[in-house]
Amino acid sequence: MPLLFYSEPDDPVPWIEALGEHLPDLEVRVWPEIGNPDDIEFALVWQPPRGLLAALPHLQAILSLGAGVEHILADPNIPRNVPLVRLVDPGLTTGMTEFVVMRVLHYHRRMPEYEAQRRDRVWQLLPQTHPSDRRVGILGLGELGSAASRALASFGFDLAGWSRSAKSIDGIATLQGEDGLFAVLERSEILVCLLPLTRETEGILDATTLGALPQGAHLINVARGAHVVDNDLLSLLDAGHISGATLDVFRNEPLPDDHPYWTYPQVMIMPHGAAWTLPKTAASTIADNIRRHRSGELMTHVVNPEQGY
Ligand code: NAP
Ligand code: GLV
Repeated sequence: MPLLFYSEPDDPVPWIEALGEHLPDLEVRVWPEIGNPDDIEFALVWQPPRGLLAALPHLQAILSLGAGVEHILADPNIPRNVPLVRLVDPGLTTGMTEFVVMRVLHYHRRMPEYEAQRRDRVWQLLPQTHPSDRRVGILGLGELGSAASRALASFGFDLAGWSRSAKSIDGIATLQGEDGLFAVLERSEILVCLLPLTRETEGILDATTLGALPQGAHLINVARGAHVVDNDLLSLLDAGHISGATLDVFRNEPLPDDHPYWTYPQVMIMPHGAAWTLPKTAASTIADNIRRHRSGELMTHVVNPEQGY
């Protein structure tokens, strides 16, 4: 039975080709040319329109084209008895690790200050800090947060991370609960957010939590825009409490033309491109789950709808 593909406005052809290499018998129907909705067995989607999934009566599994699934759970009518699978893709993990390491190193090696000096033609060396004296915090130690942590640990950064359940990752102190959150925040000169967006994490980066960071800290948000209370971040940037932010994700995407982030010199904007889902690397995991489901095995990375990730 066919798979419905929805990821507007992306080109579906690389996906059809990559899935075809793993599952030559899989028929992919690209929205809106879906034929008879009764036929559809799997839906592979990014930000599907509300109601689309509910209109597929024989749907067996919903496969997210992203690691985050809030774009699917936001639809109040999604069929609750159909398993929802988030994406774990080695290419996505590599891309995110690259981006996080790049921005942590950027702040660690004081690039914003050197850029400002260059504008003023100032030739001045700034003291260099050894990574073991640079405290970096990671919120979220899942597929992406743990991979980024391991890469940062290889540089020797002084790392602490926060997750819901207890973890053991070489080279990183791991904490849980509200006390653990504040313990991570209070020590993080550079804070990376890699949490999923859920009821519990929406707005988690607000005046209280961002205010708990040390004076002059930097924020890297590569998770979701709604983790941040934008006015609180802007106030803390204005006050100099936060020295700079790298924002890959925003409450409204594309970021509206009149948003203050666009003109804020200490804010680096990335158009939600820290890490892409690449058909070349992601198709094998997706195909593996389709095979598992067809043979009656449990699929991997099934979302717990109560937890929201
Ligand atoms: P994941 O494997 O599900 O990991 C999520 C992590 O967050 C886990 O460690 C989890 O704790 C922790 N967590 C969740 N809720 C929590 C809470 N209430 N308190 C404390 N910790 C909590 O997800 P992932 O694959 O790493 O992806 C993370 C997010 O990155 C995605 O949801 C997506 O929003 C974002 N993302 C962004 C891009 C981009 O290009 N910007 C690309 C891909 C993904 P446990 O381990 O204890 O469950
Ligand atoms: C991208 O943002 C993803 O969730 O994979």
